[in-house]
Amino acid sequence: MDLLTIVLLTALPNGLARTPPMGWNSWNHFGCDVSAALIRQTADAMVASGMRDAGYQYVVIDDCWQVARDAAGRILADSLRFPGGIKPLADYVHQKGLKFGIYTDAGRRTCQGRPGTYGHEEQDARSYAEWGVDYVKEDWCNAEGLDAPTQYAKFRDALAAAGRPIVFSICEWGSNRPWEWGPKTGNLWRTTGDIADRWNSMLSILDLSTQYSAVSGPGAWNDPDMLEVGNGGMTDDEYRAHFSLWALMAAPLMAGNDLRDMPGNTREILTNREIIAIDQDSLGVQGTLVGENPPELQTWAKPLKDGSRAVVLFNRSGLATAMTVTWNRIGLRSGPASVRDLWAHADRGVHTGRFSATVQPHAVVMLRVTPAVAP
Ligand code: GLA
Repeated sequence: MDLLTIVLLTALPNGLARTPPMGWNSWNHFGCDVSAALIRQTADAMVASGMRDAGYQYVVIDDCWQVARDAAGRILADSLRFPGGIKPLADYVHQKGLKFGIYTDAGRRTCQGRPGTYGHEEQDARSYAEWGVDYVKEDWCNAEGLDAPTQYAKFRDALAAAGRPIVFSICEWGSNRPWEWGPKTGNLWRTTGDIADRWNSMLSILDLSTQYSAVSGPGAWNDPDMLEVGNGGMTDDEYRAHFSLWALMAAPLMAGNDLRDMPGNTREILTNREIIAIDQDSLGVQGTLVGENPPELQTWAKPLKDGSRAVVLFNRSGLATAMTVTWNRIGLRSGPASVRDLWAHADRGVHTGRFSATVQPHAVVMLRVTPAVAP
């Protein structure tokens, strides 16, 4: 058996996340400044902006919604920021045709010092199921002395026992080789530390995450962290590169910006349906780096269900450069293939054996290459 077959056989059998989860998470833009009003307005904006119709589903509150436990040990939301608790908020998000997610921590306290789930696994899973939660991200702060595979498996089993389908997002930053036990434990697992809204952060996460591509597949995805698109620390070309490469890696696409106040260029990046279709392709293969010569000029490719290939020509250098992809390099026969540019939304004609394009500095050209004859 090859590695992919083993992963498919051992992936968490909760039937969820057959394609990489898509949605929004509060952390990258709002940090601890979360509230019911923000979540409602974000759900509204997800619909109004066309993001829901483009495939975004989960609205996830990250850290800081929780403050304490009651006398019976039940987890309590901040009553000033979440009046009436979490259930009415989940109901509101569901009424919008969206799904609702929440955050906890497998340790004693969350990264921001709020109560963690350690010792309350079944109780918290039951609360989440009662509230109508569809997605839980579980972090790994304040877990000294605990064993990650054991703790995450405990929460996986608690979620299963709670009786509601809940996507399980493991967030231990790649510290305990989650690519080895993640597939049987969660639907996605972070491969690295936190992303920052900077070009170099995005690059380093890309380079780390690609090492584990073989284990990713339907129901069980490597998670190179949430998107920074629209947060202001990169140029639009850099954000297009970030979005293209995350889609090529079949990464979860969790927007991390303020959806309520989104300029048109950001919206166009996040709702590019041709690129979302690459991320969501049902074959579920994580694309990889297939060529780099010279350094900083990279070709990335992802096989798709219909036999075509998604290709990212990625110019990491500071100079506009002509780049060529050969069919050979992306696993196709060298005969004729049609080429479509997924950012220009334009057909580039039928080409035999290769295709060349000029790629701007810190930018990509993203293509779909479809052979005239099946490979
Ligand atoms: C960790 C996680 C982040 C975020 C914060 C919240 O750093 O990796 O994604 O959830 O905690 O405190």
